[in-house]
Amino acid sequence: PRDLRELAYQNGIRIGSAVNIAALRDEADYRKVLNREFSHVTAENAMKWESVEPERGVFTWSDADALVDNARRNNQKVRGHTLVWHNQLPAWLTSGVENGTIDAAELREILRDHITTQVRRYKGKIRAWDVVNEVVNDDGTMRQSIWLTHLGPGYIADAFRWAHRADPHARLYINDYNLEWNAPKIETTFSIVKDLQAQGVPIHGIGFQGHLGIQYGYPGDWANVMSRFADLGLEVAVTELDVRMELPVTSEKLATQADYYRRALTDCLGVKACREFTVWGFTDRHSWVPGWFEGEGAACLFDENLAPKPAYHALLGVKKA
Ligand code: G3I
Repeated sequence: PRDLRELAYQNGIRIGSAVNIAALRDEADYRKVLNREFSHVTAENAMKWESVEPERGVFTWSDADALVDNARRNNQKVRGHTLVWHNQLPAWLTSGVENGTIDAAELREILRDHITTQVRRYKGKIRAWDVVNEVVNDDGTMRQSIWLTHLGPGYIADAFRWAHRADPHARLYINDYNLEWNAPKIETTFSIVKDLQAQGVPIHGIGFQGHLGIQYGYPGDWANVMSRFADLGLEVAVTELDVRMELPVTSEKLATQADYYRRALTDCLGVKACREFTVWGFTDRHSWVPGWFEGEGAACLFDENLAPKPAYHALLGVKKA
């Protein structure tokens, strides 16, 4: 294959990237690589609640629209990220809940309206939605978000039902990190899915974020975990893959990183239900990693100058088993 788009096509999947909207607008070289290599895109921040409704009732869709328009022009499918999360909520919402001016009944209406408005706006233009993101803790308990605290555990089923009503064709996902290897989180997520299915709730996919680091080892059981969820009838996606390292970069670390990317794609291709393989940014020029992990970085497929790294070449060499 001459690039990731062709590799994806040959293997019957889509290879995607998270997109930084400022870079999409301002950097021609970024745009060029994005649109050449990737056949699936996710907004890194532009579809999050604080981005689309910064003041109550004031909607700012232009960044999200820019991503969806660019995708249509470049034959890219879109993952909507994300409808229900505990982070990047608008301040009017969190403060209203905190100071008691928004009670539980109103909060439930606000959530329903948010999901309905956003999913309807992009009806037919979003292949898959991350309906709920990171709802389980690493110890397998449910995350104590404002959603769980004020609405109770039923908010998850509600969210899927509302999203489905707003766009019956969109694939609806539950998405999380550390789900590649963390047993308590895997088991709880597994029972959430089974419960939802038993209630007839429209859930269609499981998203593995895949934020890996070479210092932690490769999650060797990942393909197996994917298969377990696929056996429940779910579609599988790698939604936010990156492989960080402690700086400085060495050729040895880059080789290990390349191996992790290669194994992740191999694992996905080994599971028939795995249809999408998305990285959380494609260039070290724009990556969340250095801002979040001190002394770490270089997590992406291309370097700051958009030169392909060993990991990129490793992906191109992957063959379906
Ligand atoms: O909007 C402000 C801007 O006004 C200000 O000038 C700037 C200064 O730092 O900050 C801007 O907000 C930042 C926001 O990204 C938009 O760029 C926040 O500080 C920053 O914390 C935020 O980080 C994002 C993070 O989610 C926050 O939760 C990352 O870019 C984004 O990559 C990351 O993505 C998440 C996925 O959504 C879910 N899974 C984990 C993944 C990595 O954390």
